[in-house]
Amino acid sequence: MTNKYVLSSSILSADFSRLGEEIATVESAGVDWIHVDVMDGHFVPNITMGPFIVETCRRITKLPLDVHLMIEAPERYIEAFAKAGATGLTVHVETCPDIVGTLKKIKSLGCKAGAVLNPETPVGSIQPAFMEADLILVMSVHPGYSGQSFMPESIARVSEIRKKLDAVRSSAWLEVDGGIDVQTLPKMKEAGATAFVAATAVFKNPQGPAAGVKALRALID
Ligand code: DX5
Ligand code: ZN
Repeated sequence: MTNKYVLSSSILSADFSRLGEEIATVESAGVDWIHVDVMDGHFVPNITMGPFIVETCRRITKLPLDVHLMIEAPERYIEAFAKAGATGLTVHVETCPDIVGTLKKIKSLGCKAGAVLNPETPVGSIQPAFMEADLILVMSVHPGYSGQSFMPESIARVSEIRKKLDAVRSSAWLEVDGGIDVQTLPKMKEAGATAFVAATAVFKNPQGPAAGVKALRALID
């Protein structure tokens, strides 16, 4: 995790009948992290994957596994995801009454700790996490599905959080997730984001996932 900017490829849009190949393709095309979207059907309407898939990804790739927990009461599962081989675990502030305590617990299990906020959640609610978090994630869609339209109002939220992180000299990654493509990535980069999640723009690229990675990489290298 030494680059200034990182590209995190969300496997939510990958072809799961060929998950190993899909991950190998994006890895050799130069993606930095693999983003795993965990959804429980409660915090978000969709149900996706759990520790079993993280453990599978861990066997497929050496890349950091950037695990995004869109689940109620995430502290119940942190240990299972850490054991499965997650590199980083990112929890929603909306699901954590004690966000600092949850981030500390994640770190105590040897993982990088991230905090994320939904589009409608006030920016102030993530500020208590700044000193503990290795990563702050700003959603630029309502979480639940890949392939949604980017919410332009999230650009100002990223700028605001960038200023606040700089003010406390935080070195946390500022990650953005949702509708990130060749049009929106430069706007989020200009606003101060340093880590970019993309599912559709990578795995549904008409020229294939390697071309998707290369097109996004060209904007951050
Ligand atoms: C959305 C997930 C995202 C999603 C992004 O709830 O957290 O990571 O996979 O998909 P795209 O890049 O298609 O918006
Ligand atoms: Zn995500």
